[in-house]
Amino acid sequence: MKIAILPGDGIGSEIVAEAVKVLNVLDLPFEMEHAPVGGAAYELHGHPLPDSTLQLAKDADAILFGAVGDWKYDKLDRPLRPEQAILGLRKHLGLFANFRPAICYEQLTHASSLKPELVAGLDILIIRELTGDIYFGQPRGRRTAVDGHFPGSEEAFDTMRYSRPEIERIAHVAFQAARKRGKRVTSVDKANVLETFQFWKDVMIEVHADYPDVELDHMYVDNAAMQLVKAPKRFDVMVTGNMFGDILSDAAAMLTGSIGMLPSASLDKNNKGLYEPSHGSAPDIAGKGIANPLATILSAAMMLKFSLNQPEAASKIEAAVGSVLSQGLRTADIWSEGTQKVGTREMGDAVVKALTDNIAMTKTIKG
Ligand code: IPM
Ligand code: MG
Repeated sequence: MKIAILPGDGIGSEIVAEAVKVLNVLDLPFEMEHAPVGGAAYELHGHPLPDSTLQLAKDADAILFGAVGDWKYDKLDRPLRPEQAILGLRKHLGLFANFRPAICYEQLTHASSLKPELVAGLDILIIRELTGDIYFGQPRGRRTAVDGHFPGSEEAFDTMRYSRPEIERIAHVAFQAARKRGKRVTSVDKANVLETFQFWKDVMIEVHADYPDVELDHMYVDNAAMQLVKAPKRFDVMVTGNMFGDILSDAAAMLTGSIGMLPSASLDKNNKGLYEPSHGSAPDIAGKGIANPLATILSAAMMLKFSLNQPEAASKIEAAVGSVLSQGLRTADIWSEGTQKVGTREMGDAVVKALTDNIAMTKTIKG
């Protein structure tokens, strides 16, 4: 099992190190190779996604990714900015299906900014299309306007577009995912205004015909944003385009108390995937040893389940995370009165310990 380890920028290297520690406890034949990505790669190779890093990612069975980005690169030409690394990986590897679960751990119900009763037991899966939409649509650029409100003035433009096969394949992913859980899909669009999303909705309805056992409803994106903070538990699987998914998944993440808890998976058509925490590189706390490594550790668990066919090992990691939370250990982002504040490394060590104890116990029972 070849795993490409791409820590990236900011807190990326700190949190990925903890996930690697956890993976190493499992007695599995991993071959891990590290490579720079994002600003770190720009410093070393003059490009955020060097050929060598892209090649390593292509050759691997799965990719564990930290985070990229730092304000100090904001002045660089767009193609050289750290964010281009993750966009490039998504595009070159065809990682069109992004899974962003928003799960509220029972132990963290009080860390949410919403009332506990609104989020207790929350378990939403956002499926975001990841290689199309206005993120990648051509043409885009700057030019002199020939029409519009101010002809002759300077303007910028991007293109929102989706082809039928792009919508069909993400629709299948969503319906199949829903089958394995609450059997309900909410497709989020803006069909009342945008042609692209009227088409999105039409194609969703067509594909739904193959999944009579799954319920489908449709919601405009503005209403979806409102419902997420009003009654988030009404959702099971939410499927949407790249741009809306970017925004809604951050909102959904925060319902759970901290974006520092949430993993994500970005899969290609063969379930090869890139796994990363849902949060960013947090340059403001980088190097301080206080970042929450749990989202990355849970991303490693997702990797074992989706790409490496090791569901048991994945469950053990998830159980270990649950156990450290029950012990009352909290990084600063999820800390509250009466719990014990720990740093990145201590949190990683605690997960390793819980996992080792569990593995030892299983061996005793089996042996
Ligand atoms: C995300 C991030 C990225 C995105 C950025 C870093 C390009 O916000 O994964 O949600 O916009 O997709
Ligand atoms: Mg985002």
